[in-house]
Amino acid sequence: MTQTNPAPAFTLDDAARRALFLDARSAIAFADRPVDPEVVSRVWDLAKWGPTSQNTQPLRLVVAASQEARSAVIAAAMPGNRPKLERAPLLVVAAHDDRFHDHHELTSPGFPEIHGRFESDPAGRGAIAHGGAMLQLGYVIVALRGEGLAVRPYGGIDRAALTDALLPEHWRAEVVLGIGHPAPDHGAGERKGRIPADTAVVTR
Ligand SMILES: Cc1cc2nc3c(=O)[nH]c(=O)nc-3n(C[C@H](O)[C@H](O)[C@H](O)COP(=O)(O)O)c2cc1C
Repeated sequence: MTQTNPAPAFTLDDAARRALFLDARSAIAFADRPVDPEVVSRVWDLAKWGPTSQNTQPLRLVVAASQEARSAVIAAAMPGNRPKLERAPLLVVAAHDDRFHDHHELTSPGFPEIHGRFESDPAGRGAIAHGGAMLQLGYVIVALRGEGLAVRPYGGIDRAALTDALLPEHWRAEVVLGIGHPAPDHGAGERKGRIPADTAVVTR
């Protein structure tokens, strides 16, 4: 009788799981080489396929490629975050688009009434915009790691100041990403604990 191998426990192989999760850290030290800003569009074109509520896709990304834009991002950060952001070769602002529903013909074809529903409910729209952008940000972080890059997110920023300084109309800053090629030492210190599955997962 021929012996069959047991099915693998995971679809992703060990190297991919290490690169995306197990070995990936929120780095503050990076290799001394630039990151091509083009990688952000490439990453977007992968991460955009992750699911969002009603396919609304509210995340927007601002690549701070110029020295002026970098300075504006760093100036809007809390003082403790500034030296860390200085060390990141590429800074990207993750934002939400408060008028994401203007894209409804692409994102909800055949349902034009969805535009009016979001238009008449700014509070509900804001909640979807924030929550959806943060969800998509998770996809973007994993996609950046999939490109072999290291990334640290920063929520410690003056969002209103950064929005005013750098963002297109109707976009609102959420989080800054410091991105670079990995260095031998990520500089992020000891890995902090993670909530285990037997605490975080309940089966009923
Ligand atoms: C939404 C968000 C906001 C964060 N804000 C900051 C911040 O303001 N400053 C900072 O140094 N790190 C910030 N971090 C980084 C976290 O502290 C870090 O990802 C976490 O401790 C896990 O680290 P590890 O990936 O190296 O295990 C933030 C992370 C996220 C996801």
